[in-house]
Amino acid sequence: MTEPDTDPERAINGESTVETDGGVAESDSTEIEAAENGTSDGESDGSVSIAAPDISSEAIDRVESVLESGMLADGPEVRAFEDEFAAYCGADRAVATSNGTTALHAALEALGLEDGEGVITSPFSFVASANAIRLVGGTPVFADIDPETYTLDPNAVERVLEERDDIVGIMPVHLYGLASDMEGILDIADEHGLFILEDACQSHGAEVDGDRVGALGDAACFSFYPTKNMTTGEGGIITTDRDDVADRAAGYVNHGRDVGDGASYEHIELGHNYRMTSMAGAIGRAQLERLPDFNRARRENAAYYDEQLAELPIETPTEPEGYRHVYHQYTIRTDNREALAATLDEHGVDTAVYYDTPIHRQPAYETVSTAAATLPNAERAAETVLSLPVHPALSDHDRRTVVDAVQDHFHPQ
Ligand SMILES: Cc1ncc(COP(=O)(O)O)c(C=O)c1O
Repeated sequence: MTEPDTDPERAINGESTVETDGGVAESDSTEIEAAENGTSDGESDGSVSIAAPDISSEAIDRVESVLESGMLADGPEVRAFEDEFAAYCGADRAVATSNGTTALHAALEALGLEDGEGVITSPFSFVASANAIRLVGGTPVFADIDPETYTLDPNAVERVLEERDDIVGIMPVHLYGLASDMEGILDIADEHGLFILEDACQSHGAEVDGDRVGALGDAACFSFYPTKNMTTGEGGIITTDRDDVADRAAGYVNHGRDVGDGASYEHIELGHNYRMTSMAGAIGRAQLERLPDFNRARRENAAYYDEQLAELPIETPTEPEGYRHVYHQYTIRTDNREALAATLDEHGVDTAVYYDTPIHRQPAYETVSTAAATLPNAERAAETVLSLPVHPALSDHDRRTVVDAVQDHFHPQ
């Protein structure tokens, strides 16, 4: 987690950089460790961290009860968490997993993706989105993003479909806490008979026209990594209204075991052990209760930045009409982000770049034929985005520090 990044191009200001959830955070590892442990208050050491998971004493008590119960692996806490998370999303079913990547992998298996079939996805995401397609034997086919929202552009999806006849599904990524253009994507999927798997790993509680992500397509996947809007340490979940998908996914995460009879050792399909632990389930239940407050605080922080940074020569995030952004990240665009990051660092403000390399340009994708695509909006975004701290634990003082630092960069006193 806190492994130093040794790529000199990514080591901005000569500082060591560390991986958070796949992005490059400019910070020192002690700060991130403090943030990951929920101990960074952003004021005590004069720094404002990029993430700060907040585990309540109630969550700790619940974990203690689980430990005392002796039911540490899959169990009632996980089942209850699944029911509560499905209800929160407005979905009929949920299947908890060990992390967001395994959720995506199991969901694609459950949706019936076969070797060599194509799934259209965003090149501007954490690499896990496309990796999951490859893990099932499918081909990730990249379509460009909308430069304002950073999510899949339905027109670009249409263009891909004009050129290929191997596409069976679309995986829109709801990036930074903002849902993709689901109206456009749903129309295309309907017309071409494609499945939709939402990658909602960064968007717990985001909405489109009053409907939460998680029940907008055939299935959706969430991550509960520590920097996310809610966490279970490591963890993930699949939500769906389709019983066939939920049943197959529940089997797949449990060695393909027949879910119809919990006591049976009949394994009807190939599968994995992608199960969530009961400790993670207990933390998840406590975090889910607080998710509305977490998201409200993120939105308030974002509104404050929107107002305070409006006059500066940067692009602040877009929230299209009818959408509810939950600001997993507050990501701005600026031509010289290295200089801005350096000023913020001098003021003790952490920043991060999600993501400085689009997936089709990743070394691990050199051998993937679809990586040869030219995707200018994704490539430009990768060069210009910079995320500012927006997490719910920011104090008024922290937010002011961030704003003062950005203003100082553009208008030094
Ligand atoms: C968009 C996206 N997809 C998938 C994942 C994978 O989730 P996890 O890290 O829990 O495996 C992440 C996590 O960072 C993500 O941001």
